Amino acid sequence: MKSLWSETPLPRFPALSGDAHTDVLIIGGGIAGILAAYMLEKAGVKYMLVEKDAICSGTTQNTTAKITYQHGLIYRKIMRAYGAETAKKFLCAHSAAFDEFARLCRDIECDYEIKDNYVYSLADRKKLEEEMAALDVIGCRAEFCEDVPLPIKTAGAVKIPGQAQFHPLKFIAGISKGLNIYENTYVREMIGNTARTDSGRIYAERVIAATHFPFINKHGAYFIKMYQHRSYVLALAGAEDVSGMYVDEADGGYSFRNYGDLLLLGGAGARTGTRCGAWEELRKLARSAYPAAQEKYHWAAQDCMSLDGMAYIGRYGKTTKNFYVAAGFNKWGMTGAMTGAMILRDIIIGKNNEYADIFSPHRRILHPQLLYNGAEAVKDLLTLSDKRCPHLGCALKWNSAERSWDCPCHGSRFSLDGKVLDNPANADMKK
Ligand code: FES
Repeated sequence: MKSLWSETPLPRFPALSGDAHTDVLIIGGGIAGILAAYMLEKAGVKYMLVEKDAICSGTTQNTTAKITYQHGLIYRKIMRAYGAETAKKFLCAHSAAFDEFARLCRDIECDYEIKDNYVYSLADRKKLEEEMAALDVIGCRAEFCEDVPLPIKTAGAVKIPGQAQFHPLKFIAGISKGLNIYENTYVREMIGNTARTDSGRIYAERVIAATHFPFINKHGAYFIKMYQHRSYVLALAGAEDVSGMYVDEADGGYSFRNYGDLLLLGGAGARTGTRCGAWEELRKLARSAYPAAQEKYHWAAQDCMSLDGMAYIGRYGKTTKNFYVAAGFNKWGMTGAMTGAMILRDIIIGKNNEYADIFSPHRRILHPQLLYNGAEAVKDLLTLSDKRCPHLGCALKWNSAERSWDCPCHGSRFSLDGKVLDNPANADMKK
C-alpha cells in the first residue's frame, strides 16, 4: 500500500544525539516543516528540524500533489463567513504560494507541469454559480464549463486555468538538500519551549509545530477545532489522459489527474473512523469507466480539516509564547504548506505579512462543524469498546479495508498489533 511517489530516494539525515540549542526548532519533517526550514535557511535564521521517523514518511508521500489556489468551492464559503476582503486575502496568500512553487520548481527536476484545475459538482449547479460569482468579486479569473472529460455525469465545473501538478517527493529531494534536519529524533514532551527527545533536550527560542495534527492538547484546542478525513487513490495504467486536475466539490466524491501514463483516481473518502468506500468503490468505478486499465498502485491519504476550510497558521495557543503552528490544510497541503512556511518565516524575522491575520488559529470557532466535532467526540467517548484511543480515550473503529483501528474523534490510527500509525496519538494502543 505504498504510493506512487514513495519509491523516490530522499536525502537521509542523522539522528540528533545529546542536547542542542537553536533559535528556531521545527518539529515535523513533512512538506510543511521542510518548507519552513527552507524559508528560514534562506532568511539566515539559525534553526533545526527534527522528525521522528524519516522525512516525508507520513502524509506528504500520499498527496495527489496538485498545486492550486482553487481549494474546492472555498471562496463562496469564506465570503459568507468572513466577507470579500478575507476571501481576497485567502486568494492572494495562496497565489503567492503558487508563484513560489513555480519559481522553485524551475531549478528542481520534479515533473512540474502547468494544468487547468476544475472543481465539478454532480448535481448542484447553483453552488458552482455561486463560486463563479465569488471569484468574480475578488478578481480571480475562472470559467464555467458545462461539461468535463470525465466518466461521470456532472452539473458543470468551475475551471481556473494555469494551475500545476508535480512529483512531490522529487521536489522534496531537491529542496531538502543541505537543510539542518535530524531524522529519527522523537520529541516526547515540550517543557515550555524546550523539547525532550530520547537522547537529550533541545533548547529553542522559538518552536514551530508542523506535526500534521498539532501534538500538544493543553493549548489551542485543536482536538475540537479539527478532525481528519481519509481518502483513497488508485494509479491506473491504460486509462485515459484527462488533461487537467479535477475534484468533486462534495466530500466523498472523486478526483482525477494524470502522472505520466498513469491516471490517479482518488476519493471515496470520509471522516477517519467512519464508513467509507475505500479502494473497492474506486475499483468499481475504474472497472466500468476504464475496463482495459490496470491498477499499478493503491494508497490512502489522511488530511486535517479545520472548522471553516482555512488552515491554522500562527501562534499555537493564545497564551503560548514564541510557539507556532501550521496545520489543517483541508486536503490542499501543497499551497497550504507553502503559505504556512511564508507566513511563519515573516513572523519569525519580524516582517509584516498582510495575510497572516486571516489564518490566525484563534479566530472565531462558531461554525456548524464545531457542533459536529463535539457531538462525534461525545458519542465516541460514550461508546462501549475495549479498544480505546490513547489520545483522549474515544472508542476505536475497525477499518476492514486497511486492517487498522481508527479513531473517529481526531483520526489517530493503529495497526492490528497496536502500533500508532497516524497522530495525534503519540502512544501505542493498549491491547
Ligand atoms: Fe483523539 Fe482518538 S484521536 S481520542
